Amino acid sequence: MSAQAFPASAPEPSFAPMRAADLDEVMEIEKASYSVPWGRGHFSTSLTSDYLAFCLRGAREELAGYCVLMPAVDEIHILNLTVAHAWRRLGLAQRMLAEAVVRADERGMSGLLLEVLLSNEGAIAAYRSYGFEEIGRRRGYYPTASGGREDAIVMRLRLEEFGGKKRA
Ligand SMILES: CC(C)(COP(=O)(O)OP(=O)(O)OC[C@H]1O[C@@H](n2cnc3c(N)ncnc32)[C@H](O)[C@@H]1OP(=O)(O)O)[C@@H](O)C(=O)NCCC(=O)NCCS
Repeated sequence: MSAQAFPASAPEPSFAPMRAADLDEVMEIEKASYSVPWGRGHFSTSLTSDYLAFCLRGAREELAGYCVLMPAVDEIHILNLTVAHAWRRLGLAQRMLAEAVVRADERGMSGLLLEVLLSNEGAIAAYRSYGFEEIGRRRGYYPTASGGREDAIVMRLRLEEFGGKKRA
């Protein structure tokens, strides 16, 4: 990954649990990032479930990114991972993935799992660069803005392949 280039006025964003008060800003980034965004209800439900939801905020408290993780039996399922346009290609997705690894590792889980749109080349590249591998496809998994369906790639990161030591 290239050297980090955060603006001088904005040191590396810091993590905080996502709260209901974050949802206006989360929805703004969500709508700007997906042709079929999650609804506010998806995030609200995440906050009242056993999910792990985080925000990354810059020095001026601006929202830079967020993720929603669902601990399952033996893996953490990444349900949503989004970086605001202005903050992309600065390593924030990698930081959120590293946080997910820590959470999985401390629960003794074997890895991380996610689905990503087949056409989402940027996200697939980001997951591959972190060490995820394609393990399958789900036909018609995602709805499209035009009312159709699009396939998803299922990707997994196995922690044991990194000796349980994959960190930021
Ligand atoms: C996909 C996404 C989360 C990546 O976030 P990011 O913080 O920009 O990613 P990072 O800076 O951590 O990228 C790390 C590496 O992944 C790869 N990568 C990331 N975005 C890429 C893109 N658009 N095209 C090609 N490679 C990309 C690069 O190898 C990059 O390293 P580099 O910048 O040194 O070349 C972000 O673009 C995003 O939020 N997109 C819209 C929402 C989305 O698609 N989320 C994923 C849903 S499954």
